[in-house]
Amino acid sequence: MIIAPSLLAADFSRLAAETLRTARAKADWLHLDIMDGHFVPNISFGPTVVKSIRPLTRMPFDVHLMCARPEILFEPFANAGADHLTIHVELGDNVKDLIWKIKSLGLQVGLAVNPPTPISSVQPYLSQIDILLVMTVNPGFGGQSFIPETLPKVQQAAAWRKENGLTYRIEVDGGINNATAAECARAGADTFVAGTSLYGQRQMKRAIEKMRKAVDKA
Ligand code: DX5
Ligand code: ZN
Repeated sequence: MIIAPSLLAADFSRLAAETLRTARAKADWLHLDIMDGHFVPNISFGPTVVKSIRPLTRMPFDVHLMCARPEILFEPFANAGADHLTIHVELGDNVKDLIWKIKSLGLQVGLAVNPPTPISSVQPYLSQIDILLVMTVNPGFGGQSFIPETLPKVQQAAAWRKENGLTYRIEVDGGINNATAAECARAGADTFVAGTSLYGQRQMKRAIEKMRKAVDKA
């Protein structure tokens, strides 16, 4: 199981301290939400910010590109120290090329699917990706409520993985707390992005331990 706190919910006036707090809390990955004000109606931060926190930790950087033209950011994020680059299947015909561009940079490839987009849209790419990101809220903002209608997509992704002997991780993102993480785990998720429910806690280490227990029990 992977727990990946989303830095979007951190205190942006203290990003270094927040990054160190996340590392000390024994998080597995750091999830970095990149928003371009076009693919989603919000703007977050870019490669310069990611580069500035890279020296603080060895946690893998899981970069989620909610961007209409993610390809212009692949090299900048690779140079900033990203380990995984996730793009959205909603970009359509370009997806195949984008996957290969990320691979050619030597990074792991994630493919994300929004709540209204059918899970069948990712099926053609499953053998080429490392991470399938099932969005459990509509992307753009932290702190939204989990959408339970996304759970059958997680189940389908897990069934396909088994049927085809594939190894991609099934990551869920949006409204994840101990209860919804457990529901997602029962559906087949193994990688949990959580912003508000972890950064809101004084003792993030305890909060992560509790989330691991909730997932284990499920
Ligand atoms: C949504 C982002 C998520 C979000 C998760 O646009 O992709 O990573 O920040 O935040 P919470 O856990 O607060 O829903
Ligand atoms: Zn995200």
